[in-house]
Amino acid sequence: MNGILRNFAVFEGCDGSGTSTQLSLLGQKYASSGRKPVFYPTFEPTDGAIGGLIRSALKNDTFFKAETLARLFAADRNEHLYAAGGVIERCRRGELVVCDRYVPSSLVYQGIECGDELPRSLNSAFPAPELLLFFDIDPKTALERLQNRSSLEIYEYLEFQKKVRERYHSLLGRYKDAGFGVEIIDASQNREKVAEDVWAAVSKMPIFE
Ligand code: TMP
Repeated sequence: MNGILRNFAVFEGCDGSGTSTQLSLLGQKYASSGRKPVFYPTFEPTDGAIGGLIRSALKNDTFFKAETLARLFAADRNEHLYAAGGVIERCRRGELVVCDRYVPSSLVYQGIECGDELPRSLNSAFPAPELLLFFDIDPKTALERLQNRSSLEIYEYLEFQKKVRERYHSLLGRYKDAGFGVEIIDASQNREKVAEDVWAAVSKMPIFE
């Protein structure tokens, strides 16, 4: 990735690891803490036009070749970052932006589907987050949490999720070696304990100094 974007944190993990729930708990905690910087929670795939196409492919309502989907994730990200009012603009004006999934999801998931080279080249120009929180959990336990959903998405099966976790761990090793901020959160704990760990990590970001 290309430089570090200050005030930008991302949540990553297997499907069912609880990143979306934790982002909303972080928002509640943040609001009640009376902290100053504006807090902007966001997510990828986005709810924009390209994100909509991706969501329909994830639900298996539309079919794209894996390489097309890799390009759609990158195009959605480009809009999310660079459009007016987007992530870059907000971080630069001193907001704390926390995003549920980002480049590492593409390197991991599309890496499995298309090989490393395509997602790496599609994402190489995007900035790195200041902090990456990885929600670590056994994929079997994570998938059990999704069982009461009416339907599962295309990547939500055990064999795939085992590869996802392995790939995240090797990616995190490379990120740490490169000097990026990485925190591993034990996502198998109850949600209140996970939320405490998330808060402990996020509240150490330089924006709060
Ligand atoms: P979600 O379940 O967190 O909403 O994410 C949707 C799915 O999209 C999840 O299975 C991970 C996958 N994904 C990718 O494959 N590549 C990406 O770049 C992103 C952002 C998500």
